[in-house]
Amino acid sequence: MMRGYIQAKKTRLKFYKNIPLYYQARGIKLMLYKPSGKTIEEIRIEKGLLPDKLYIKQEDKIRGIQEVQKVFNNQLKEDVRSKNPEKIKETLVNIVQETLAEPRSGSLEGVSETINILVREYTKESDVIKNLLSVSDKDYSTVMHSINVMALVLNYAFHINCSLAEKKVLGLSALLHDVGKTKIDTKLLAAPRRLTDEEFKEIKRHTTLGYNILNKCNFGNKEISLSALQHHEKMDGSGYPNGTTRISEVAQVIGFVDCYEALTNDDRPYRNAMDPLRCLNLIKQDVESGKFSRNVFEKFAYSLL
Ligand SMILES: [Fe+2]
Ligand SMILES: [Fe+2]
Repeated sequence: MMRGYIQAKKTRLKFYKNIPLYYQARGIKLMLYKPSGKTIEEIRIEKGLLPDKLYIKQEDKIRGIQEVQKVFNNQLKEDVRSKNPEKIKETLVNIVQETLAEPRSGSLEGVSETINILVREYTKESDVIKNLLSVSDKDYSTVMHSINVMALVLNYAFHINCSLAEKKVLGLSALLHDVGKTKIDTKLLAAPRRLTDEEFKEIKRHTTLGYNILNKCNFGNKEISLSALQHHEKMDGSGYPNGTTRISEVAQVIGFVDCYEALTNDDRPYRNAMDPLRCLNLIKQDVESGKFSRNVFEKFAYSLL
């Protein structure tokens, strides 16, 4: 690969308008393939009438992600209006995948608009977002988990009827709570067995890693990075990374829903997903022992009705 250039993903080619694309001529130099302001004709892409590899300049990378996010966010608006939960989930997966591929300031803020769209549309069409939860996922990944936690948390936020600003913070905190996992070896995250102490210690780092990543972003709200840091803390001090008992309210909600989602979905090959009622009964033990807030537990249980 040429220094200063990165290969553009085939599936994203049609979205680049303001980003110039380059091709490799005669094995040496990179030449302009398409200037800024023009998109590649879709028919050309479909028929493969273009160079095998196209490149974007390294310095255009974040702008490229922003451009793709914008197209997907517009797609999301259409999907919500068409009331098709499968399609909505597919677009959300695309947005989150694109964003988590390069999780840093400049790209992460792009999902703010995603949350804005969902919150706005939920007000009009609450069923559509609720139905997101019944779309089954073929491959369970951090992306799927993040989207599911976000959908459950938004549903909770509408149930408790907090302010619009609080709904957005809750949704965004949920969607990005595990962003630190992008820095952890995927083999470890998907290990089809119980982890060793050493491996578990490594995975626990996703909290502080996520905090550091989100702290550099311009969300205008500290709760989002704080939730990444504290979502595995428990109110009795038995959590991680710091074993603190002073957990932000948003992080308490994210942590609770995170646990619920992981149990009700098949996130580990060695165990099976649990049905909601059994799961709530199990988590209730953690409420009794003071790990989770009773208030959050009760409101969340009602939000599922
Ligand atoms: Fe986590
Ligand atoms: Fe999580």
